[in-house]
Amino acid sequence: MKIIFLGAPGAGKGTQAEKIAELLSIPTISTGAIIRSAIKNGTEMGKAAIAYTESGKLVPDEVVIGIIKERLSEDDCKNGFILDGFPRTVPQAEALDNLGVAIDKVVDIDVDDSVIVERMSGRRLCEKCGASYHLKYIPSKDNKTCDKCGGNLIMRPDDKEEVVLDRLKVYHAQTEPLKDFYSKKGILRSVDGRGDIAAITASIIEVLRS
Ligand code: AP5
Repeated sequence: MKIIFLGAPGAGKGTQAEKIAELLSIPTISTGAIIRSAIKNGTEMGKAAIAYTESGKLVPDEVVIGIIKERLSEDDCKNGFILDGFPRTVPQAEALDNLGVAIDKVVDIDVDDSVIVERMSGRRLCEKCGASYHLKYIPSKDNKTCDKCGGNLIMRPDDKEEVVLDRLKVYHAQTEPLKDFYSKKGILRSVDGRGDIAAITASIIEVLRS
């Protein structure tokens, strides 16, 4: 299956993508994670992207379209994939169409802005392996180090409240129109992204079957 996860920053796209990808044995492709890794490794793309991500703006379309084009050509994408965080603008969605990628389902994870701000303030990432935690909802054993590799847990620079509020504005202006784009194609499915993580996974499985 070729699936897109749509939703506001912090809606739970990454959390759910990881679970569904494991169930379906397909890779999850997060443009955000690819960009963060490029920033960490100091690549040319990373250097160009940092000012955008840290201020909550979108990285230019041509950069992310290039990332996706390259990633989708890899062998592990042959049997399907989950796109987490791409497309985020109508031109990105059109570029995906132009690449000849036939998406089966677009899952919109719906969460109110007020819930998002609380979620982001508690999110912590392992600086070594990138595993994602939440101080309250998905805590590591000591809330300081990663249970998987022992790396330090850090806050993403773009999870500061003022940046989150800007990211939400960008989401509503530039990404939300994609709901209409995919609704017209008849492949948009919405799930309530509030509450228990396992219950949300179950709702996603249900809409993927519909
Ligand atoms: P990206 O990394 O994609 O960030 P995002 O879309 O803003 O999404 P997040 O990763 O913040 O949230 P999520 O929905 O995955 O939530 P998560 O599961 O982690 O992008 C970062 C930046 O890169 C962008 O701002 C942009 O600059 C750039 N970029 C990336 N893609 C781009 C593109 N296509 N075009 C242009 N620029 C691009 O959950 C959040 C927290 O909540 C976690 O702590 C989690 O543990 C917790 N949580 C999850 N579900 C629940 C639940 N049900 N209950 C309680 N807590 C929960």
